[in-house]
Amino acid sequence: MGFIADRLLRIKPSPTIAMANKALTLKAEGKDVIGLAAGEPDFDTPSNIKEAAKRAIDRGETKYTVVDGTPELKKAICAKFKRENGLDYQPNQISVGTGGKQVLYNALTVTVNPGDEVVVPAPYWVSYPDIVNLCEGTPVAVTCPQNNGFKLRPEDLDAAITKKTKWLILNSPSNPTGAAYTRKELRAVADVLLDHPQVWVLTDDIYEHLTYDGFEFATIAEVEPKLYPRTLTLNGMSKAYCMTGWRLGYAGGPVEIIKAMAALQSQSTTNPSSITQAAGVEALNGTQDFIPKHGAIFKERRDLVVTMLNQADGLHCPVPEGAFYVYPSCAGAIGKRTQAGKTLATDTEFCEYLLESVGVAVVPGTAFGLAPHFRVSYAASSEQLKEACTRIQKACAALN
Ligand SMILES: Cc1ncc(COP(=O)(O)O)c(C=O)c1O
Repeated sequence: MGFIADRLLRIKPSPTIAMANKALTLKAEGKDVIGLAAGEPDFDTPSNIKEAAKRAIDRGETKYTVVDGTPELKKAICAKFKRENGLDYQPNQISVGTGGKQVLYNALTVTVNPGDEVVVPAPYWVSYPDIVNLCEGTPVAVTCPQNNGFKLRPEDLDAAITKKTKWLILNSPSNPTGAAYTRKELRAVADVLLDHPQVWVLTDDIYEHLTYDGFEFATIAEVEPKLYPRTLTLNGMSKAYCMTGWRLGYAGGPVEIIKAMAALQSQSTTNPSSITQAAGVEALNGTQDFIPKHGAIFKERRDLVVTMLNQADGLHCPVPEGAFYVYPSCAGAIGKRTQAGKTLATDTEFCEYLLESVGVAVVPGTAFGLAPHFRVSYAASSEQLKEACTRIQKACAALN
């Protein structure tokens, strides 16, 4: 037995971070690598948010705060939920943490007992199953293939639910596919959940503001108010407000779980940075003008990447509704041979081939539970994206 606890054997380091790091290392070695593996906007944090943080420092807001969020921030979050989602939450129903990831971690840690099942539609964000595993729960992946638009079908959800099911995790728009659920699709999911009163739903809405072509975002507790008492609505500042490094996420839900999450956080990280929280108040209450501006840029990039990837031999790239990812199939490249004589057997090998032969870093679909695909983040400049897609086209054309 080693010194490291058994629980750590149940998780693996985030494969997306691993790929992003590999690209950074190659770049540092002087290699010409375009990294499209990381999940963060390339835009700077809007200046009104940065100024609010500076003012907070100057006012001396540099002390501990209430563990799960300042009253000002909780108030701003309640107003956001009401204004944008039609959801009524009181401040004692709000939990603020150091990133959406911590809030998710808290929620699962305080609810999942060994053997509890958590339904996770696949492809999924890599942290969902691993946090469930860390809690000694069982992630139950339900495959949502491309011909379902990468979305959960009600009959598949119904079949996956057992007496042990504690949560369904929804993520719309999705990391890694960009797929987003319409109100009608959420209605169908909600109808299944109404038949299973023991199942709670954790909806990860962190890409809420990144949708295109007039897609209307909806969230499940608003679509079906009967689910409100067993829904945790998770969101965060990283994506819409370009604040990945600031670390701020939050959730609204029933008081019982919010209290438990605060207890856990009080014994781990305490409050998120006081300065970040002040910035978060400005992000939610201040101008939202940059959101559609960024959206228009992301949409252009999405269209560019989808078009160019669909021109590559062996790739098929659907048009996603939101987020800043595309999730093409590389089924047509699998089984082909590289110039070096290697037959590509998996999407992981395909992604390694892209990195080694043309210096483009993307993440294999295997990491997200649906192969053979790969995830491309288009949170990069159009020039970089054009160059990366041209290189991918060349790499695909060189296979035989
Ligand atoms: C689907 C999804 N949820 C939550 C997060 C958490 O983000 P953060 O911890 O930066 O708030 C991410 C980040 O990549 C994500 O993709």
